[in-house]
Amino acid sequence: MRFTVITYGCQMNERDSEVIGGLMMEAGHTPSVGLEDADAVIVNTDLLAEADLVILNTCCVRATAENRILGRLGELKRLKKRNPSVMIAVGGCMTQYGEAASRIAKCFPHVDVVFGTHNMHEVPRMLETAAVHRRRVIAVPAGDASEWGCDHPVPSMRMPGVTALVTVMYGCDNFCSYCVVPYVRGRERSRDPNAILDEVREAVRSGYREVMLLGQNVNAYGKGLADGIDFAGLLGLVDDVPGVERIRYMTSHPRDFTDRIIRAAAESRHVCEHFHLPVQAGSDRVLRLMRRGYTRAQYMDLVARIREIVPGASVTTDIMVGFPGESERDFEDTLDLVRVVRFDMAYTFAYSPRKGTAAEGMPDQVPPEERRRRLSALVSEINPIALAKNRELVGHTVEILVEGPSRKDAGVIAGRTRTNKVVLVRSCAATPGELVNVRVSGARTWTLEAEPIVSPRDMPS
Ligand code: 5AD
Ligand code: SF4
Repeated sequence: MRFTVITYGCQMNERDSEVIGGLMMEAGHTPSVGLEDADAVIVNTDLLAEADLVILNTCCVRATAENRILGRLGELKRLKKRNPSVMIAVGGCMTQYGEAASRIAKCFPHVDVVFGTHNMHEVPRMLETAAVHRRRVIAVPAGDASEWGCDHPVPSMRMPGVTALVTVMYGCDNFCSYCVVPYVRGRERSRDPNAILDEVREAVRSGYREVMLLGQNVNAYGKGLADGIDFAGLLGLVDDVPGVERIRYMTSHPRDFTDRIIRAAAESRHVCEHFHLPVQAGSDRVLRLMRRGYTRAQYMDLVARIREIVPGASVTTDIMVGFPGESERDFEDTLDLVRVVRFDMAYTFAYSPRKGTAAEGMPDQVPPEERRRRLSALVSEINPIALAKNRELVGHTVEILVEGPSRKDAGVIAGRTRTNKVVLVRSCAATPGELVNVRVSGARTWTLEAEPIVSPRDMPS
């Protein structure tokens, strides 16, 4: 079969899709297109016409993601009407969430296979059973029976580019009161460091220059492993793998972010000077209700330590507004935190009630239109700061890892600084994977413009 995997949600899901793609190829199937994200397929629905099989790898962290997926399932119904031989499989976080799997099975009879987050390795077999016996296969095992995330090498169809995604741990034990992740991805499980290193070496052999170590809460890495390794230790091991130019990681929890991890960025050669630390809120009362396990002061102290140990580091975050019980005053505290910390970038979200989480039943739910108002007020606070921080870089020389031609402008290449800022460079002959020094000549809110540095050697005599 010619298959397409459409991914919704975070980088953990992107990585899972790479593995599902790899497993499908190992089973003899061919990708009909690369691992396009859902948006690319929405823009170009022809991509779907090429496929005999469409696999949706889903997300349920907010209702908006679920609604997009339900909309897509409706469209796929029309596709199947036109071409009844097309098979459709749905899996990942959403099917693992509450009653969603049985609802999908009931409301979308054109779906042939439903799988969960813990049995993705069985997808090719489930599809074969569905195709051979012409019946639906629905299997969403409960979290604890997980074989998914095992340490033996998994085949994968990596996304093209310069960055290889490498999962270091699965699941989350934090149970923040708004979050479904612990319910849909199960308990924290760290992968064996040797399995991770083998995967990193393999990625380097395939030409990747940067590795992104993934987990819902990477600073909990190592808990439960025999050899006493922690995340800082793992960073040290990956730093020593020949050919790795840059190391990033996602996501960290501010609660147990140790100085050892901060020092890894200062002292290792390849760990990047970028810290993504989701703060979620600037009010101690809301942080407590969210069960985040740190105070505003502790968070600010962590950022101060980062900036002291790693001068020039960038700090980015996730912030949520409209959490139940968030008063206007609490929201002001969040705006104030944004002004004091001065984030380089922030992902912003309106709180989305999720069934089964502690926050769902909390009193004083903020009305949706007020959540939206706070979200746009927050964005108006964040953007000018991001722009001002980028302007501070104008005139400076930065090293970029070239990713490829810009998607928008012909003759422009795009790369990233170690601090994770996107840089667009005109008239530069560098190829993807190259590290080049460029001089920043302009700044926008989310991107920098730069010019190639012409060395005296290259000047016409
Ligand atoms: N509503 C809104 N945003 C959420 N996030 C997680 N759960 C929810 C929810 N129920 C956000 C958090 C997290 C990011 C990945 O998604 O900010 O850091
Ligand atoms: Fe969700 Fe909190 Fe775990 Fe992050 S740390 S995945 S927000 S429960």
